[in-house]
Amino acid sequence: MFVNIQIKLTEVAASVETMLKKYFEGTTGELAEAMQYSLLGGGKRIRAFLTVSFAEMFGGTVEQAMPFACALEMIHAYSLIHDDLPAMDNDDMRRGKPSCHKQYGEATALLAGDSLLTMAFDVCASNTYVSDRSVRLAVKSLAMLAGHLGMCGGQEIDLAESVASYEELKHLHALKTGALIKAACLLGLYAATDDPEANTVSAISKYAEALGLAFQIHDDILDVTSDSETLGKPVGSDAKNDKKTALSYMSLDEAVVEEDAVTRRAVEAISEFPDSDVPAQLAVWLMSRKN
Ligand code: IPE
Ligand code: IPE
Ligand code: MG
Ligand code: MG
Ligand code: MG
Repeated sequence: MFVNIQIKLTEVAASVETMLKKYFEGTTGELAEAMQYSLLGGGKRIRAFLTVSFAEMFGGTVEQAMPFACALEMIHAYSLIHDDLPAMDNDDMRRGKPSCHKQYGEATALLAGDSLLTMAFDVCASNTYVSDRSVRLAVKSLAMLAGHLGMCGGQEIDLAESVASYEELKHLHALKTGALIKAACLLGLYAATDDPEANTVSAISKYAEALGLAFQIHDDILDVTSDSETLGKPVGSDAKNDKKTALSYMSLDEAVVEEDAVTRRAVEAISEFPDSDVPAQLAVWLMSRKN
């Protein structure tokens, strides 16, 4: 079945935005303002989309998936706030506006990131549309994949400038980008069922690992080929910081071919599931994204 991914993405992004806003109702003060500044009004919401899509693929509802989807976007927003800090990539623009630390200062940006991270676990734990066991599976996966064995671990390797080969770069990308994408997919599954089959978890993990790599290869390409207005963040950030990227190990043309091959692996990994059209077509659509 053909799905118009762009329309579906816009719909999910709008629902996510509405729900994210609700979590801040009644809050005041600069810290909550900084959190909302970075969380709301921007971003493609790919991770939220994955959570909703995988929930629906396994018979769950949008309602069940939405708190988990919001938690993913909170952790993702925190990772971007910290990623832009002078101690990390030192980038001044994010989602078309000044980075959090440019707007609120470094100390508040640090705390806004910390607070979005902790808030994500509150939102997950408060998902009353799923069983307690589903919540436990979700919280455990999210903690594991966001932390030192996942996204943060990847960010640490990225900073250490110790990547010596494309194989090592793939490991770095799997952690810094792939891990949260995997969390997004698995939390979708856990929204739908609290007793998933091991084979299902393994197939989804394979999809997510490949998608994470393809996604970061595309990000690396855009950092070189795009412009900051289209991207909403600075271009040339990787070169500025002497970062190893896909383009350190292959030409631009080869990177495009590699992204395509890795995307095919992602699609193949979930092809056994009858309702895999949406995540499969998302993977293909992501290769054409401009930001
Ligand atoms: C940017 O992620 C950070 C990477 C992992 C490459 P996205 O490209 O999903 O950023 P937003 O949420 O759309 O701004
Ligand atoms: C960062 O990768 C991924 C995160 C964990 C935030 P990048 O540093 O390449 O992300 P951008 O290009 O700044 O969005
Ligand atoms: Mg970075
Ligand atoms: Mg960066
Ligand atoms: Mg980048």
